[in-house]
Amino acid sequence: MDVLVTGASGQLGRELARSVPPGVAVRFLDRSALDLAAGDLEQRVLALAPQLILNAAAYTAVDRAESERELAFAVNGAAPGALARAASRLGARLVHVSTDFVFDGAASRPYTETHPTSPLGVYGASKQEGERQLRAALPEALILRTAWVYSALGANFVKTMLRLMGSRDRLSVVADQVGTPTWAQGLAAAVWELGLGTHTGLTLHWTDLGVASWYDFAVAIQEEALARGLLDRAVPVEPIRTEDYPTPACRPAYSVLDKTTTLALLAAPRQHWRSALRGMLDHLKEQG
Ligand SMILES: NC(=O)c1ccc[n+]([C@@H]2O[C@H](COP(=O)([O-])OP(=O)(O)OC[C@H]3O[C@@H](n4cnc5c(N)ncnc54)[C@H](OP(=O)(O)O)[C@@H]3O)[C@@H](O)[C@H]2O)c1
Repeated sequence: MDVLVTGASGQLGRELARSVPPGVAVRFLDRSALDLAAGDLEQRVLALAPQLILNAAAYTAVDRAESERELAFAVNGAAPGALARAASRLGARLVHVSTDFVFDGAASRPYTETHPTSPLGVYGASKQEGERQLRAALPEALILRTAWVYSALGANFVKTMLRLMGSRDRLSVVADQVGTPTWAQGLAAAVWELGLGTHTGLTLHWTDLGVASWYDFAVAIQEEALARGLLDRAVPVEPIRTEDYPTPACRPAYSVLDKTTTLALLAAPRQHWRSALRGMLDHLKEQG
């Protein structure tokens, strides 16, 4: 199996690289090797002729997307369509990763795969467009929506909290947005299983298990980091409302994804978000 991974330097891309299954030949291409915003993307992928494409690349700057709409739509909207056209011509499989931000967060029960999408901001709208273009060009493609991704290898909420907890005397964290923190390691396992499996034409949801607000997540990060000596003192963490922390992009208040279908289909290890957090912090500690 000859595999092409886009976005090789991102959180998911790097976790995919740490977990390549035996017997699989992979080309990991970062932005400098394969720019998804380039006009000749389809031709470039045709020339590379992979049997499986894992699209781990995305424009993920949620707030900046509000002022960079064109670029966000090129990378998240048009590029998945180009990848799907290339995959269709090559007879290749394609796994694409999407987001909870395709939903508006108005629900109060976990979002199923078939729930109507209704993004609040440019990032979510660009990812919704990517899902549409991909599905139109390659109905067999696999779409895996995920949420609140973090990893020891990359920039994310966990690393931001550790930095701020190490340098500030108190922190305020939004407590009225609820979702599921997701370690990129488990996501990578699910992506590999889907890519190398036989399922086709599915849109699925993958996150770690359980539910938390950003505030709950921050409190857990501090407790687990203190227990591992990654922090040497506790600082007060206060819950605040979304309106007390204004950002350019609106975020869904409720982003929990229903994973019933995925958990029945995939064997990839699943765990509660808090035990995944412990695993990530152990990895971070090993890295020094
Ligand atoms: N992070 C989250 O919380 C989250 C939540 C829900 C869904 N997702 C989805 O999960 C997937 C993986 O996200 P992640 O957390 O791994 O994101 P990430 O760490 O931001 O990685 C994204 C990667 O895409 C690359 N990229 C950006 N523009 C590109 C372009 N024009 N051409 C080629 N590569 C480009 C970036 O390259 P550079 O390093 O050069 O910038 C980066 O390596 C994405 O589809 C994302 O939408 C993420």
